[in-house]
Amino acid sequence: MTLQVGVIGTGMIGRDHIRRLTNVVSGVEIVGVTDIDQARAAAAAPAGAEVFATPSALISSEKVEAVIICSWGPAHEEQLLACIASGKPVFCEKPLVTSESAALRVMEAEVACGRRLIQVGFMRRFDSDYRRLKAVIDGGKLGAPLMFHSVHRNASVPEGLYTSEMPLNDTLVHDADISRWLLSDEVIGVEVRAPRRSSRGGALRDPVFVLLHMASGALVDVEISVNIAYGYDIRGEVSCEAGVAALPNRPATVISDSNGIRQAIPEDWRERFIDAYDQEFREWIVAASNGTASGPSTWDGYAATLVADAALRAVVSGGFEPVNMIAKPNLYGRPAAMAAE
Ligand SMILES: NC(=O)c1ccc[n+]([C@@H]2O[C@H](COP(=O)([O-])OP(=O)(O)OC[C@H]3O[C@@H](n4cnc5c(N)ncnc54)[C@H](O)[C@@H]3O)[C@@H](O)[C@H]2O)c1
Repeated sequence: MTLQVGVIGTGMIGRDHIRRLTNVVSGVEIVGVTDIDQARAAAAAPAGAEVFATPSALISSEKVEAVIICSWGPAHEEQLLACIASGKPVFCEKPLVTSESAALRVMEAEVACGRRLIQVGFMRRFDSDYRRLKAVIDGGKLGAPLMFHSVHRNASVPEGLYTSEMPLNDTLVHDADISRWLLSDEVIGVEVRAPRRSSRGGALRDPVFVLLHMASGALVDVEISVNIAYGYDIRGEVSCEAGVAALPNRPATVISDSNGIRQAIPEDWRERFIDAYDQEFREWIVAASNGTASGPSTWDGYAATLVADAALRAVVSGGFEPVNMIAKPNLYGRPAAMAAE
């Protein structure tokens, strides 16, 4: 059986997902696309796919069984609510939404529906290196995790596309989510320190150093540098009671020449996480074909939104900003600190 899918938003990541769903992953067919830029949607549409005038026309179309949202964050809430109202499974690129109140509205609608419909695009959870790291931590031989050092470096970000707080409200959500997932824990508070600005970052607050306080007492430090020139470099090391577990260096061809011996670094997220994105969709297609969702949930998107909000407050206050989550609805499983998954 082939899952008939519609894609909202045919920008950079929308087109990359269309490529993978057309050429790489099986069990899926893109039957519709839409974008506020209709010409862009038409150019991205695979052969035979309909170009819909609006997201709501795509979502309500009988030919669309499941939806992929790759539009800008502020548009996600309305599109997610329409998918829930239609009872259609939906993959939503991060961020889930851009405010706590919007996250609560989406969660309320999904809980009222009685089954999970939303998977959020936190692709790191599908990366084999992160999965092996989590298996080591969950295995327990190193003892309890005490500290996690997370490094998130981009070569550059498009000039003018983001506000000065982009490292905190757009980038940090990935580190917040992977920290909660790796440590099976929740973030209860955030501090932010900003060193001198990189001259390469323009108006951006870049780099930033974020400290996440976890419910267990573990601490996570996150370096975010989004204009570091040399490449896309994601690192992670967990210090436990009886040892340390770290992401490996990515395998890459070793080049020896007059500059020395070196290995190339991924240019961007598409290259670094290419296999993770493929796996993310393989698992989404299985769940969506059964009318539901698995993987990162609305709860996880809500948590990441709260962390980003707290980080933005912490920049202003210069101190500890609490993250206060509502009680976890049963739909999303047990509280993270108790859950084995
Ligand atoms: N998981 C990841 O690693 C990752 C990486 C990049 C981007 N993203 C997320 O994916 C989303 C898209 O990012 P992008 O880099 O492709 O941006 P982009 O600007 O290249 O593309 C976004 C597209 O959505 C369209 N759009 C915006 N609002 C719309 C609406 N209301 N209805 C229909 N179309 C609309 C725009 O016209 C544009 O074509 C963002 O939420 C971003 O944070 C996630």
